Amino acid sequence: MDDAPRYRQAIETALTSTNRPAAIEVTGLRKSYGDHTVLDGIDLTVQAGTVFALLGPNGAGKTTTVRILSTLIAADGGEARVAGRDLARDPDGVRAGIGVTGQYSAVDALLTGRENLILMADLHHLGRREGRRRADALLERLDLQDAANKPLSTYSGGMKRRLDLAMTLIANPRLIFLDEPTTGLDPRSRRDLWEIIRGLVADGVTIFLTTQYLEEADRLADRIAVLNGGRLVAEGTAAELKRLVPGGHVLLRFADPRSLDDAARVLPVTSRDDDALTLQIPSDGGVASLSILLDRINAASLDVRELSIHMPDLDDVFLALTERNAR
Ligand SMILES: Nc1ncnc2c1ncn2[C@@H]1O[C@H](COP(=O)(O)OP(=O)(O)OP(=O)(O)O)[C@@H](O)[C@H]1O
Ligand SMILES: [Mg+2]
Repeated sequence: MDDAPRYRQAIETALTSTNRPAAIEVTGLRKSYGDHTVLDGIDLTVQAGTVFALLGPNGAGKTTTVRILSTLIAADGGEARVAGRDLARDPDGVRAGIGVTGQYSAVDALLTGRENLILMADLHHLGRREGRRRADALLERLDLQDAANKPLSTYSGGMKRRLDLAMTLIANPRLIFLDEPTTGLDPRSRRDLWEIIRGLVADGVTIFLTTQYLEEADRLADRIAVLNGGRLVAEGTAAELKRLVPGGHVLLRFADPRSLDDAARVLPVTSRDDDALTLQIPSDGGVASLSILLDRINAASLDVRELSIHMPDLDDVFLALTERNAR
């Protein structure tokens, strides 16, 4: 059997993935409004064909970052290459290579969904036939065929979000900024949009998104950065970020203070809440360690009212990293 083609393919794949240029490269990005510093030196890199999620509390500067990187406003300092072009020297080049879906809808409510899309196609000089062909293909892809010929004023929030994305996709951009794409969507519409985003990434598109939903970052993003107090306070994969916070634990709740005392004497307690009558026991959440814990509870005849298992998730990471500012 001749393995040569397979090896050649493997080598080519390895070469293209390591040589792949970054879609976004940012160093020392700064932005202030008056004496309010919003971005105080941001560095980040987004590899082409990946999803990068920017998290942060309200007012952290996520939209500001998106607006700067998509040429809508100017930075006060720092360097950025976006879609292979220098942001400061060649903003037109950047603009030609990207698509942006803003946090707030940018469509005309009096026109129909289809008319909005065709208008956008015209703005991109797609030509009459091609513009209409792409508009119809996107209406179908985003499940908007039924509403295509109704005015936008009759669309629900989820339908408007999907049309927003269609407006961005009409020019077929290879790098897309999505500012809170699923805010206000119901769980099913959110999942539908995730599927669409995954489909785009499978086609090699790069996605830079901001979100308030940590589950969204967890499910979609290859890398996640947390913005707080003008700086990126953490950056990595979801798994890497989760390792930043203390591990999992079992929470036991007792009926009365005496049972709590009894248990605290025989179990490896890491934290105790006398008001809530709870104890925290470190745990990896695995069956083996749980059955050891249950054996000890039974052996000491402890009166446990409630047992729950907690593994660190991105919510814990987010709360831990952004706590300082909230205080
Ligand atoms: N044009 C402006 N003039 C003055 N201050 C501004 C302006 N635009 C934004 N800001 C301030 O910059 C900070 C960052 O705002 P930004 O919209 O980037 O936050 P965000 O992270 O997107 O928040 P949210 O989660 O609420 O969307 C906020 O304190 C905001 O008040
Ligand atoms: Mg915002």
